[in-house]
Amino acid sequence: MKDRFEEIIIKDNFYQSSSFFPMPLTLIGTLNEDKTLTSFGSYSLIFPYYIAGKQYYAMVLECRNTSNTAKGILRHGKCTINFLPYSKKNFAQHVACGFPGDTPEEKMKDFRFHPVDSFSSKESKEPCPKILEEALQVFECTWMKELDHAENDQVLDEYEGPYHDFNGITSKFGAHFILRIDKILVKPFYKEAIVEGATRSNFCPLPTNWGYRDSKYFWCSDFAKPHAIGIPDREVDLSSIQYAAKRLNTDVTFTDDALKTIVKVPRPFLKLVLQGCVKWAEENGVKVITEKEMKIIADKRSAEKKKKKK
Ligand SMILES: Cc1cc2nc3c(=O)[nH]c(=O)nc-3n(C[C@H](O)[C@H](O)[C@H](O)COP(=O)(O)O)c2cc1C
Repeated sequence: MKDRFEEIIIKDNFYQSSSFFPMPLTLIGTLNEDKTLTSFGSYSLIFPYYIAGKQYYAMVLECRNTSNTAKGILRHGKCTINFLPYSKKNFAQHVACGFPGDTPEEKMKDFRFHPVDSFSSKESKEPCPKILEEALQVFECTWMKELDHAENDQVLDEYEGPYHDFNGITSKFGAHFILRIDKILVKPFYKEAIVEGATRSNFCPLPTNWGYRDSKYFWCSDFAKPHAIGIPDREVDLSSIQYAAKRLNTDVTFTDDALKTIVKVPRPFLKLVLQGCVKWAEENGVKVITEKEMKIIADKRSAEKKKKKK
């Protein structure tokens, strides 16, 4: 489409009132007040938050602060994020679980999915929210209430402030929850796709293209077969790798043959890779890294990766 752009007014809920925005579709399970029932609410504003380099991995959830989900997290600190495959019936259940105002007991009366015990519940003395048997993937999470000092936030009818910046009650109507990922559960067929490699037919069929439009309809498109595009085949030239290797704070050196084995490493990761090799060399009393040592390091790395994936 080569039309010129037109500016559109930015309103509340701009991600659907002022734009189209790709989003996941999830059902989040939390415990009701007396912990006897898991209630499921529909949520899309749920994204990876800490993805590396921290003590733990985390998601962030943006949520109405008077919802059952917000209350469940504030009271009990636990939730399960359930990803279900696309179907018209499944989408209709998500829309039904997105209707505000019902109590957990009212919501769960006609619920068509089957809640089952979570993996966390096997390790905990306290009741934990259940997960959905029909989900293809589930994240079991704990709210990190100490972040932004939100540990004293409580369930109230109305929130007058002061508000937190990014965790707990963050505005008159809103809450954000940073959720540590305790477990990721994936159905075997899709686990194999992650561990052994994805193809056009084992790609997890999760819906990502939905929106509430015209204050009238919830729209969602079906999952379509994915297409694969290879990573760009670009090489960094050898002289820039030699330069980076010389600048490392070490007396370990690399032969050119060794450096040639990493010409395809993207530039932002080059220093990290070189430092990893030097660390291995220092631990193993090696002063000159040749192609042979690079192979040993690469084999060690892929063995570690395989172990991690299991
Ligand atoms: C598909 C879908 C996605 C939704 N995503 C969100 C969201 O990310 N955040 C939010 O606050 N409300 C969202 N809503 C609205 C909530 O589902 C609604 O407030 C509902 O009452 C929450 O249920 P609960 O009170 O049981 O937690 C969504 C609704 C639908 C239908």
